[in-house]
Amino acid sequence: MTEGQRQAHAFRNKLVDNLVADGTVRTQPVEHALRTVPRHQFAPEATLAQAYADEAVVTKVDQHGLAISSVSAPQIIAMMLELLDVHPGHRILEIGSGGYNAALLRELVGDNGHVTTLDIDQDVVNRATQYLPAAGYPDVRVLRADGEYGAPDGAPYDRIIVTVGAADIPPTWIHQLTPDGRIVVPLRLRNLTRAIAFDRRGDHLAGDGYGPCGFVPMQGAGEDREQLVLLAGREVGLRLDGGMRVDAPALRAALAHTGADIWTGVTVGQQEPFDDLELHLSTTLPGFCRLAAQKSAFDSGLVNASWRTASPAVVDGDSFAYRMRPRPVGEDHTSYEFGVRGHGPRGVELAERFAEQIRTWNERQRGGPGARITAYPADTPDSHLPEGFVIDKPHTRVTISWP
Ligand SMILES: C[S@@+](CC[C@H](N)C(=O)[O-])C[C@H]1O[C@@H](n2cnc3c(N)ncnc32)[C@H](O)[C@@H]1O
Repeated sequence: MTEGQRQAHAFRNKLVDNLVADGTVRTQPVEHALRTVPRHQFAPEATLAQAYADEAVVTKVDQHGLAISSVSAPQIIAMMLELLDVHPGHRILEIGSGGYNAALLRELVGDNGHVTTLDIDQDVVNRATQYLPAAGYPDVRVLRADGEYGAPDGAPYDRIIVTVGAADIPPTWIHQLTPDGRIVVPLRLRNLTRAIAFDRRGDHLAGDGYGPCGFVPMQGAGEDREQLVLLAGREVGLRLDGGMRVDAPALRAALAHTGADIWTGVTVGQQEPFDDLELHLSTTLPGFCRLAAQKSAFDSGLVNASWRTASPAVVDGDSFAYRMRPRPVGEDHTSYEFGVRGHGPRGVELAERFAEQIRTWNERQRGGPGARITAYPADTPDSHLPEGFVIDKPHTRVTISWP
């Protein structure tokens, strides 16, 4: 082993140790694959420390400087591989390539399995075609194709993994699965993306676990980007799902006036995850969206949002509300209280509605088993859908319910 290889090995093991310790890696095969595949060989532009940091390595940006391809962050990759539940001998399709995840999949399926990875971008295909054999994975099939249509010549697949942000689930993905196949897809649910594991049940999909994630957006036939409506120069904006329309001038006027703050009495511990709160809000608040703000807007006091790029928010006509940065409570400041700020003529009313849903989540869903998610073909009548909140998309009707 050369000194470089020894260093890479040490970085890699440290990264995987952390993913095991924080519970992201739960099974031995996924752990073994992550300890084996040389991630740095799929990101040669990065230093070893960057390649083995728990962050995505951006490999291509568009004309506006926005990332359109990356080697995904290890934590998200590991979480999705655990959801995918790969077995030796499986046939797998990966949509959105680069090589690294395809190599991990090849480790998981073994010599009797098969991996096809495809990408819409020839530069990415070239990278995967070059890096996979160099890293010891010459039999992974690399294709240039629009993932919207899958890869019919290799179907059916036991597993499909989508590694690019999807606004919908095209029927080809369901039809190219084996009858008991599973797909893991980062699906946008009203401006909130969750990597969801779905099992095929005939013509529809039944969810079995999910986790928070962020991905570069889908290009090609399935492209359906979110919109950004600016409220104060480029400092503050609302991120909206594709078809949503808002009264931007009225909302700008609303932000220009001081907001009304409402504290909920619901607290959260410092390290406690609360991803399901966002999912609950997105399925119970009509007009759900997210607020993004630059640091200058925080510094000047224009906004006091929970996060820089994606604080849950809600719009109703000329008013909007968003979740504030939680305030510390108690003497030791180890827990924080959720609050909501409303702007506009009905800002208080909207903030109250928002706060009420935070309390409902706290009473009914917090710490529970999570949401049950399904996806049915778009022509499924209401009477055939399971109970729950329905999100209608061009190809599918997604239902979300809470046990
Ligand atoms: C986050 S990267 C994939 C990461 C990769 N799986 C890895 O090993 O880390 C997302 C990729 O999806 C690709 N992509 C975007 N739209 C696509 C589409 N319609 N079909 C196939 N690939 C697409 C992009 O070109 C980009 O390379």
